[in-house]
This record gives sequence, C-alpha cells and structure tokens, in this order.
Amino acid sequence: MRIITATLLFGFAILTHAQRFVRFIATDGKEYTGDAILNNDDTDTSHSKQAHVITGDILGDFKITKQVKNSSVATGAREDTHCKNFGTANVWEGLTNDQPWTSLAAPNGPVPVTSGYQNQTTNGTFFVSSMDYESELVVVIKSKAFNITEDQALDHVLGYAAGYDVSHRGWQIDRGGQPQPQFSMGKDADGWAPWGPAIVSKSLIPDPQALSIWAKVNGVTMQNDTTANMIFGVAQLVSFFSMGITLWPGDIIFTGTPSGVQLGKANPVWLTNGDVVEVSLP
Ligand SMILES: *[C@@H]1O[C@H](CO)[C@@H](O)[C@H](O)[C@H]1NC(C)=O
Ligand SMILES: *[C@@H]1O[C@H](CO)[C@@H](O)[C@H](O)[C@H]1NC(C)=O
Ligand SMILES: *[C@@H]1O[C@H](CO)[C@@H](O)[C@H](O)[C@H]1NC(C)=O
Ligand SMILES: *[C@@H]1O[C@H](CO)[C@@H](O)[C@H](O)[C@H]1NC(C)=O
Ligand SMILES: *[C@@H]1O[C@H](CO)[C@@H](O)[C@H](O)[C@H]1NC(C)=O
Repeated sequence: MRIITATLLFGFAILTHAQRFVRFIATDGKEYTGDAILNNDDTDTSHSKQAHVITGDILGDFKITKQVKNSSVATGAREDTHCKNFGTANVWEGLTNDQPWTSLAAPNGPVPVTSGYQNQTTNGTFFVSSMDYESELVVVIKSKAFNITEDQALDHVLGYAAGYDVSHRGWQIDRGGQPQPQFSMGKDADGWAPWGPAIVSKSLIPDPQALSIWAKVNGVTMQNDTTANMIFGVAQLVSFFSMGITLWPGDIIFTGTPSGVQLGKANPVWLTNGDVVEVSLP
C-alpha cells in the first residue's frame, strides 16, 4: 500500500514540476523538449544524457511524460525566443540592447566570426577583430510583462540559464564611438549568444542573486564572481525593462557580466580562432 502511494506521488510529481528544461535531438533522430535526468547530486545539465519527454508548451500548459529519450544532440534555443541584452563589463548595469533571435545558439558549438568582422578597412582605418567573452546569467520570461513592479517580476520568470555574450569591442565601442557605443554590431551577429544547456526552473533557484558565475578561456579562469554583486538584480532588471517594453513569453534576458573581461585592460588579449570559452553558473 505504501509503495503504491509512493508511486502515485512520484507520478504526480513528474507530471507537474520540471526542473531542467532541455531541447534535444534523441537517438531516434527526432527533436524533443524534455526534463533532463541527472544523477543524484549532479547539478550540471551538460552531463545529462536522458530526459523525460515534455508535451505541450513549457511557457503555458505542458506535461512531463514518463517517456524517457536518450539525447544525441542538445539543440538549445527555442525558435520563438528573443534575446534582450542588458549590461556591460565591469559595472554590471543597465545598458540595453535588443538582439535578434538569430544571435541565439546552442551551447558547445563554434562561434562564427565572419571575415567582415575580422578584418576591414574603413575610411582609411584598418580595423581588426577584438573579440571578448562575457559570462552571464540568462533569465527566461514565462508570461507577458509590462510595467510590472520588482515585487511582481519573478512571477514572470520561468527559469535561468548560463549565457555567453560574445562581444566584438571594435564594433561595440571604437566604431560606434563614445558616448554612443554601437552595441548591435558588436553583439548581434548570428550565433553570438550561445546559452543553455538547460533552462533551470525557478523552483531550483529561488534566489538568482546567490549564484557563483565564472568564465574560463582555454581552461584558465578569467571571471569568477557571484550574482550577489550585480548592481541591479534580476527582479530590478525585469521590472526596469518592462517599464516601456513588453516582455513576451520566451523572451530571454542576458543580464550583464562581472569584471574580468578583456575590455578595459591595458593590454587586452583578444580571443582568436580556436580559443575555447567556457561559462558556468555552477
Ligand atoms: C538509452 O540509454 C540507456 C543508458 O545508457 C541504455 O540502457 C538504453 O538502451 C538506451 N536506449 C536507447 C533507445 O538508445
Ligand atoms: C586584412 O586586410 C588587409 C587590407 O585589405 C590585408 O592587407 C590583410 O592581408 C588582411 N589580413 C588578414 C589576416 O586577412
Ligand atoms: C573619414 O575620414 C575623413 C578624412 O580623414 C574624415 O574627415 C571623416 O570624418 C572620416 N569619417 C568617419 C565616419 O570617420
Ligand atoms: C505603470 O504602473 C504604475 C504603477 O506601478 C501606474 O501608476 C502607471 O499608470 C502604469 N503605467 C502604464 C503606462 O501602464
Ligand atoms: C572562484 O573563486 C573561488 C574562491 O576563491 C574558488 O574556490 C573557485 O575555485 C574559483 N572558481 C574558478 C572557476 O576558478
């Protein structure tokens, strides 16, 4: 009797509470949305090889089924997500940039930097690549939000992910010129916003201002901070942004990066082809 009760409770639990939403291509070749399955005590979704299949819309009504699929490829972003990008290096605060969905990418892939971004001569000035990394906490919006207060903000959040805000400082700053940096050209190229590998449910992260965050380049730690140091926290950013811009279900917000980027260093070492950037909110 107790076992039957436990089984029913377990069945109920997996039908209602997803913890780590993932999108992936399974070994049957089909694409699924799922709730990632992890070993006990492991919180790193990139280790997950299996997921419970989710039917329906994770931004609305959905069901987590008992069907388990093995993953072969993580596909990352939803087609209908839109990327809004907050923040800038070092100060971790309110510059904004509305990015196209085409900048979103699955994690673990190469970041394409077209030749036009690598080498240009414009108006007699030779212009070189100055690629930089930014590790960021990504917020996924669950429900439409306009002009909401900070108290209401987290009610509109589905969950969180890790994001790599690929940044070309030449376009972002030098070409735009101060005081009007050109964020769109500096950050919006196709594939310049890898994120994932899962949307970790808000139920697992009740306080988004208590996460450590780091970035490594070729295995060397370059950024290592905590979201407690964000000048504006998630609730403030969501409320602030919604002041005049409707946030839609599926919008994602890159929330800015802590110190440790190359921008602002006396002798910056820009990323070059083949460098490996890792971002984590462990
Ligand atoms: C899924 O993976 C598990 C564990 O590795 C394995 O036992 C099972 O056979 C796999 N199923 C399919 C359909 O590939
Ligand atoms: C960059 O462009 C300049 C001018 O067109 C050219 O001389 C140079 O070889 C190019 N460098 C690379 C690395 O492509
Ligand atoms: C291009 O170069 C000319 C001559 O040096 C200069 O007068 C002009 O301001 C430059 N234009 C831009 C957009 O930098
Ligand atoms: C925004 O919300 C405030 C209350 O928080 C309200 O006074 C104001 O009228 C609202 N503005 C719009 C445009 O909805
Ligand atoms: C970040 O700093 C903490 C405290 O010094 C240290 O324990 C941790 O290993 C560092 N993380 C990385 C990725 O270097």
